[in-house]
Amino acid sequence: MMQYNNPFKYGVVVTGDDFVNRKEEITVLTENLLAGQHMILYSSRKLGKTSLMKQVTTLLPNHVLPIYIDIFGITSKKTLAKKIVNDLTTTVYPTLTTLKNELQKLLSRVTVKIILVQDTIEVELQTGEYIRDEELEEIFDLPEQLAKQKGKRLVVMFDEFQNITEIGPEQIEKLMRSKFQHHKNVSYLFAGSKTTLMKTLFNDQNHAFYWFGKEMKLNTIPKPEFAPFIHTKFIQTGKTINAQAIDYLLNFTNGHPYFTQKLCQQIWYDTLDAADEETVIQAIQKIIRAEGDFYEQTWNALTKMQKRLLVGLSADPDANKYAQRFIQKYDLQSAAHVKRAYEALENKRIIEERKISDIFFSEWVKTLIT
Ligand SMILES: Nc1ncnc2c1ncn2[C@@H]1O[C@H](COP(=O)(O)OP(=O)(O)OP(=O)(O)O)[C@@H](O)[C@H]1O
Ligand SMILES: [Mg+2]
Repeated sequence: MMQYNNPFKYGVVVTGDDFVNRKEEITVLTENLLAGQHMILYSSRKLGKTSLMKQVTTLLPNHVLPIYIDIFGITSKKTLAKKIVNDLTTTVYPTLTTLKNELQKLLSRVTVKIILVQDTIEVELQTGEYIRDEELEEIFDLPEQLAKQKGKRLVVMFDEFQNITEIGPEQIEKLMRSKFQHHKNVSYLFAGSKTTLMKTLFNDQNHAFYWFGKEMKLNTIPKPEFAPFIHTKFIQTGKTINAQAIDYLLNFTNGHPYFTQKLCQQIWYDTLDAADEETVIQAIQKIIRAEGDFYEQTWNALTKMQKRLLVGLSADPDANKYAQRFIQKYDLQSAAHVKRAYEALENKRIIEERKISDIFFSEWVKTLIT
């Protein structure tokens, strides 16, 4: 018998055959970026922003150059500068000779040294301990210079852009915007997952990127798109899953791509040849058990009010949480208490957009009261 690998993936970027649908989002993003419109892509966690960006990258026509820059975890201006220079230049000039010949032509204030680390090209910035604003300005101007030099439009995608607020010592958004706004040959896409922070960055008049681009919010994947994907993946790997099972699992995950892939992966492992509703129910229980210790730790670190709100949210996800009925039913005391608990849970990222972010955690919470 033929051996197959599990066709469901989570926690990694998915593209190509592993990527479902998002046709409309892809069209909107592509058309806007090609037209020179800057875009802001946001959603709560793990809804597929990075995968969508990578997918768009593979679908852009040859006359544009896509560049992907992930700024997660960057805390200083100097490392940001280095990251930007590296991602830009090694994508635009994939060979050492062209990079050497072309790059320094574009920079007058910043001196670079090009080195080989194992087999990868790396650009080092020969700056002092701190990077000066003049140097930073030149680097922020580099996308437009590269676009002109190559005679191509650049599509520069910043992932985890909300992280910009972590980069010290002072705000660099201003400096960045002051350069980016003059770029005629570059389309920028900013993606980020801390939804409220992203909104502040782009919608608050006090922030430099106020109204810089067109916003796009990513949602879950609709059932009619996800169902055939799941069905096909099972068939292609010598197994089956019936329609009721798919329906049950998609109702459970609501079409959230990460949790759907995670659950499907478990179901697939648990299936010898045919998955049904019972297989799905068992797989959910298995995942919850596997995460049990972690959920318990999370739970123990919460206050009484936060726990009560979670119980209410998991049992009555659609209720109005500020209504007296809800407050009384879950002993939440007052709307002000609900608000405070919400905020605390949102800061811990346990709740996102008013919902418990981890669907399996929500299910685990339900087991506490039954
Ligand atoms: N279009 C898609 N089709 C199928 N699965 C997807 C799709 N998009 C995302 N996924 C699933 O969701 C997971 C998370 O996707 P991805 O890392 O792209 O999301 P993200 O929004 O960038 O997450 P984060 O908030 O961690 O940055 C993937 O590992 C994959 O399992
Ligand atoms: Mg991501």
